[in-house]
Amino acid sequence: MGLDRTCKEFALLSLKLTIIATWVAAQPKPECQSNCGDISIPYPFGTGNGCNISSNFFIRCDTTSNPPKTFLSSTDIEVLHISLDGYLRIQQLVGFDCYNSLGRSSYGESFSLLNFPISNTRNKFTAIGCDTYALIEGTLGHTYSTGCVTFCSDVEDVINGSCSGIGCCQAAIPKGVRNYVLNFDTRRNHSNVLDFNPCSYGFVVEDGAYNFSVSDLSNVNFNITKFPIILDWTIGNQNCTEAKLDPKNYACKENSVCIDPENYSCKENTSCINPGYLCKCLDGFQGNPYLSYGCQDIDECGTLKPCNETATCYDVAGSYYCSCPEGFEGDGQKNGTGCSPKVKSHQSFPTLLVALGIGILFSLLCSSWVSLGLRQRKLNKLKQDYFQQNATNNYHESKILGRGGQGTVYNGLLPDGCSVAIKKSIIGDQSQVQQFVNEVIVLSQINHRNVVKLLACCLETQVPLLVYEYVSNGSVFDHLHNADHESFISWEARLKIATEAAEALSYLHSAASPPIIHRDVKLANILLDENYNAKVSDFGASRLVPSNKEQITTLVQGTLGYLDPEYFQTSQLTEKSDVYSFGVVLIELLTGLKAISFERPEHERNLPLYFIAVMKEERLLDITDGRVLHDNNIELRVKGEERQTMKKLRLN
Ligand SMILES: *[C@@H]1O[C@H](CO)[C@@H](O)[C@H](O)[C@H]1NC(C)=O
Ligand SMILES: *[C@@H]1O[C@H](CO)[C@@H](O)[C@H](O)[C@H]1NC(C)=O
Ligand SMILES: *[C@@H]1O[C@H](CO)[C@@H](O)[C@H](O)[C@H]1NC(C)=O
Ligand SMILES: *[C@@H]1O[C@H](CO)[C@@H](O)[C@H](O)[C@H]1NC(C)=O
Ligand SMILES: *[C@@H]1O[C@H](CO)[C@@H](O)[C@H](O)[C@H]1NC(C)=O
Ligand SMILES: *[C@@H]1O[C@H](CO)[C@@H](O)[C@H](O)[C@H]1NC(C)=O
Ligand SMILES: *[C@@H]1O[C@H](CO)[C@@H](O)[C@H](O)[C@H]1NC(C)=O
Ligand SMILES: *[C@@H]1O[C@H](CO)[C@@H](O)[C@H](O)[C@H]1NC(C)=O
Ligand SMILES: *[C@@H]1O[C@H](CO)[C@@H](O)[C@H](O)[C@H]1NC(C)=O
Ligand SMILES: *[C@@H]1O[C@H](CO)[C@@H](O)[C@H](O)[C@H]1NC(C)=O
Repeated sequence: MGLDRTCKEFALLSLKLTIIATWVAAQPKPECQSNCGDISIPYPFGTGNGCNISSNFFIRCDTTSNPPKTFLSSTDIEVLHISLDGYLRIQQLVGFDCYNSLGRSSYGESFSLLNFPISNTRNKFTAIGCDTYALIEGTLGHTYSTGCVTFCSDVEDVINGSCSGIGCCQAAIPKGVRNYVLNFDTRRNHSNVLDFNPCSYGFVVEDGAYNFSVSDLSNVNFNITKFPIILDWTIGNQNCTEAKLDPKNYACKENSVCIDPENYSCKENTSCINPGYLCKCLDGFQGNPYLSYGCQDIDECGTLKPCNETATCYDVAGSYYCSCPEGFEGDGQKNGTGCSPKVKSHQSFPTLLVALGIGILFSLLCSSWVSLGLRQRKLNKLKQDYFQQNATNNYHESKILGRGGQGTVYNGLLPDGCSVAIKKSIIGDQSQVQQFVNEVIVLSQINHRNVVKLLACCLETQVPLLVYEYVSNGSVFDHLHNADHESFISWEARLKIATEAAEALSYLHSAASPPIIHRDVKLANILLDENYNAKVSDFGASRLVPSNKEQITTLVQGTLGYLDPEYFQTSQLTEKSDVYSFGVVLIELLTGLKAISFERPEHERNLPLYFIAVMKEERLLDITDGRVLHDNNIELRVKGEERQTMKKLRLN
């Protein structure tokens, strides 16, 4: 029987996958020069072939001068500093218009064509003179004409440091300006001020980088002086929303977010150039968001030392966590409530548990989660029931059910003979505390027969514990891939597993409130009870989706081989990421092969890619697990939006 029916049913599950076959992020080559002289050149800027993200970001390093000089692209605009916060400091000559008794003697209008707009908030147009009309005009990006006038008849009237129209004047620059021309005019050819001010000068300058001095009115070197200007740089000419639609060219890498430039609007003139976008490391991360894994976790514990001296500080990805010692409570923060001795009613817990030799205590933390869903009464009962005995035989090796990234799972036996599974954090691994807390929050929201039940929690300083119902038959991974599990799962059982896992995920995505994204769907996290009922477990990485958001930006987390490439690349987590992982699970069930295996030849290592290739060649037979399968109905979907929701998959 089975086979035809099975094929059909598998096909009906309508496996929908995201495959971005060979996604190669635009990245600089390792041999790229990181600086030119004293000036550092962070990616997306670069000097040398393949080091810049696009031609605007090319930096020319002139090593013939000493020290070397840095120029923007093919221009002669000298770069002084490149900031990853989206600005660039360059320097430009001053424009001048000089006179003698015969009239105009020399004129140098400053003209610039820039790759990036002049920052309107960080620069000022400045003019100096005592018979001066100065105009700055531009046609590219934003068509504008602005300027200021400055007059004086006596040098005594001029005030050092003041640019209010007597000897010096200033004007703001409009947004989005990418080129400018300076124009000067006079009323009397400087004839009445020639003795102390033969020239008018005009320049754009970084706010605060020039202090007007009376002596500059007759400074003969002023026309060869250069002043710093701040340019705003952005990536491309799309906003964040548009850029994300093109993942191949999207510049923001892991642990970063896309930001649209503030206050930019193209409404003023439809001919204006689109603003582009910037990337920024997520809170708690620092580094270069344009490089793959350029944003690195900040070690808050080491640098900020945010915890009260009595508390232990745990650095977790993107954040930190302070934990008070045994017998103390509070948030542990230096700036918070610190750690104070526990009040009496709490003290019965540690006394009881320390006596048992396992050093567990119900910290305030644990009790406070109660309000998030678990009931105090139930917890107290569980605590008494489960921990009065040395439930796990002092965590003996023989009681280990499994080890994972998050800790070790032990089998515990309760006094009444019931088995439980106890997950114990690896001592000293700080990031697990956060994951444990997360799992408690997530699991306390749900109740589904295909989701493993959390019975109790203990989040103590050193060894947090989670107590679950015991699922006796191991994980599907063990059955499918571990040699010592001889039991072969029948097609019917695999189907049932697939259907039940789909139901659980569908419940998490659609029925749970708020919806939950599991984030680590894989065979090893689907457990089987004695009747081969599937139970989805391990919610350490899961996320609750706020009701007003369809997607959330997160630190990319999951298991190699199951990770949705789209999520991996954009950090935008949606329920579809689980659907991708579930697709991989289905392929594994279908083929009996591991999602990723370095024992296989290179082109076969990544199972989804291999599967697609095999499908294309219509060789599905070759990799089907011991049976023949004619399955042309398995559809592939390249975009997340085209993937089914978990609910539809299940109904199908
Ligand atoms: C880097 O800049 C150079 C010079 O402008 C250009 O030829 C090259 O195409 C740029 N690189 C990329 C990846 O756009
Ligand atoms: C200014 O000088 C120009 C010659 O450079 C002359 O044509 C013009 O008449 C002068 N204007 C005044 C007001 O002196
Ligand atoms: C203006 O400042 C310059 C130096 O910045 C100084 O040499 C000059 O004496 C000052 N003049 C007045 C009138 O304060
Ligand atoms: C301008 O003056 C201010 C205060 O008087 C000073 O802090 C600043 O460094 C000066 N800037 C320059 C470029 O001289
Ligand atoms: C700068 O001005 C001086 C006199 O004011 C003049 O001799 C010199 O040629 C000017 N420099 C340039 C580059 O025009
Ligand atoms: C991004 O650009 C598109 C098309 O120009 C526009 O429809 C959309 O509103 C923009 N989004 C934001 C957040 O500015
Ligand atoms: C954006 O606009 C607000 C209000 O108009 C202003 O306070 C802020 O400084 C502006 N920011 C930038 C970067 O222009
Ligand atoms: C917009 O820019 C174009 C070209 O620069 C110009 O011809 C037009 O007058 C501008 N419109 C407005 C409303 O500023
Ligand atoms: C604690 O608060 C003070 C002032 O409120 C602040 O200056 C300090 O940086 C804070 N320390 C930490 C570790 O957050
Ligand atoms: C640490 O916490 C205790 C109790 O709250 C408090 O008395 C003490 O001042 C705190 N220490 C610091 C450095 O904040």
